[in-house]
Amino acid sequence: MAKNSAKSSAPAINIGISDKDRAAIAKGLSHLLADTYTLYLTTHNFHWNVTGPMFNTLHTMFMTQYTELWNAVDPIAERIRSLGHAAPGSYAQFGKLASVPDAPATPPKALEMVRILVQGHEAVARTARSLFPLADKAGDEPTADLLTQRLTVHEQTAWMLRSLLED
Ligand SMILES: [Fe+2]
Repeated sequence: MAKNSAKSSAPAINIGISDKDRAAIAKGLSHLLADTYTLYLTTHNFHWNVTGPMFNTLHTMFMTQYTELWNAVDPIAERIRSLGHAAPGSYAQFGKLASVPDAPATPPKALEMVRILVQGHEAVARTARSLFPLADKAGDEPTADLLTQRLTVHEQTAWMLRSLLED
């Protein structure tokens, strides 16, 4: 019996990126997806639990940020699918893949929330940036474009959050 004949009649993926490069880029994007989802959840958590005199500002700012992160997970997951790989989508998988830590079990003070989110956005930026050499080498422009968009958002958001902590 021919290899894979029982599984699928779809032709082998052939978009001009080697199997090895597609697998490596998809793996890297899985880390980015897990980081983005984890930061999304932490930001939504902080939207719910923030207290103090900055409540209105932070509650609203966190909503803008978690909405952006929520919208970002879909194109990352779908890029992984376009490269021929399965997108991770469970808390167990995300827990293993993420470099961003889970939100603390007890809600921190407002400015500690901001500090955690600065570090989270910077961590996701580092994950995205680390994938560029791979995408460039493989000529994977759609992934490079996605990484550029994500870096722009994470670096801008880190700056905005960091500004709240500066005099
Ligand atoms: Fe809300």
